Amino acid sequence: MKTISTFQRLKDCGEKIAMLTAYDYSTAQVLDKAEIDAILVGDSLAMVALGYENTYNITIDEMLIFIKAVARGAKNSFIIGDMPFMSYNLSVEQGLENAGKMIASGANAVKLEGCNEHIINLVKRCTESGVPVLGHLGFTPQLMNTIGGHKIQGKTSDKIEAILESAKKLQAAGCFGIVLELMPADSAKYITENLKIPTIGIGAGKYCSGQIVVTDDILGKFTDFAPKFVKKYINLHDEVLKGVLEYKNEVKNEIFPSENESFELNPEEKTKLNIQ
Ligand code: KIV
Repeated sequence: MKTISTFQRLKDCGEKIAMLTAYDYSTAQVLDKAEIDAILVGDSLAMVALGYENTYNITIDEMLIFIKAVARGAKNSFIIGDMPFMSYNLSVEQGLENAGKMIASGANAVKLEGCNEHIINLVKRCTESGVPVLGHLGFTPQLMNTIGGHKIQGKTSDKIEAILESAKKLQAAGCFGIVLELMPADSAKYITENLKIPTIGIGAGKYCSGQIVVTDDILGKFTDFAPKFVKKYINLHDEVLKGVLEYKNEVKNEIFPSENESFELNPEEKTKLNIQ
């Protein structure tokens, strides 16, 4: 079973950490079988699984349903629950209570975005209370409206130093790792090299201690948009479409179901009803 020490050990020995997202039971089973280092039940599920335009519409209670499903499918994996918008911003008590609900639902840790005094206090309280926290800096989708859109972060030395300073504060508060989203590879390299804890990149180049991407993106299942940093390993959308069209054609042409997929009625009963 992986723990937060696993991620530190992987960083320290130079082995990259491979994380992916999952929102449902059967995907979690596959990631578990692949022994992926950690599974994030990301709030990206608001867009990818529920079809919302952004991540603002998902609530803590909805997130818990998906965490429970993933926990049932991934019995041996380290599961991280993503704290949704406004589920931890009101007070430390609110954040701690909701983080506790995620752990009680099967998560082994939580992730939260940003860094300010409130977040630092919350990270401290969570870690003191037995809830490991993964930080998230750079582009933070829950702050998209104040950032002003999907903008690449950490493009100047001042901005990179500011992200590093935040990362150091999160590290000191007890975060076991930090997601770095959407920044030049060399910015993430500088930050990674100046931290003790691992960094997990998404659109942040190859120098992070590990990588995370949305599983539906790399499998080509979610096709609403494709960020530059996504590499498609399979085109599941096309494969699924092919299967669905074949099924439809077979139903229309009475090829499916065949005898193989049907149950037989006892010949005596057939005779009684005069069925040919
Ligand atoms: O919600 C999400 O999926 C994330 C990413 C880091 C993958 O936060």
